[in-house]
Amino acid sequence: MPCLHIASDHAGFALKTALGRRLADLGHDIVDDGTYSDESCDYPVFAHKLCAAVEDSDCLGILICGTGTGMSMAANRHPGIRAALCATELHARLARNHNDANVLCLGARITGVELAFAIVESFLAARFEGGRHQQRLDLLKG
Ligand code: RB5
Repeated sequence: MPCLHIASDHAGFALKTALGRRLADLGHDIVDDGTYSDESCDYPVFAHKLCAAVEDSDCLGILICGTGTGMSMAANRHPGIRAALCATELHARLARNHNDANVLCLGARITGVELAFAIVESFLAARFEGGRHQQRLDLLKG
């Protein structure tokens, strides 16, 4: 199992807490990069903290805000991060298979806890397929 970082803003705090507990119960090694309460805060702070830890490592990350949009925008500013905002299990599996996504973004105001957990499981179970997909990832660098 890869090491797993998880972070949210206030809007994602409850979902982060629920997912973190369930993943820890399954034996995942979870690093909680905050936020640590539902007090209003700024999502880029937590996106950048998690991404600094995940980029250039073998760890994966989960970022949660209200929609997942702000977190994905902030995360994809890091050259070593490929963040995917996912609302379905298929979306998450293909983000790993084809895009080698190393950060999963979720929207707590969009996706309920049960579906979010299924999306996380799908993300963690999938593997990058390489080949033509690696060629396309190399082209992302511009
Ligand atoms: C916070 O209200 C909200 O804007 C934030 O969680 C996120 O959805 C931004 O993209």
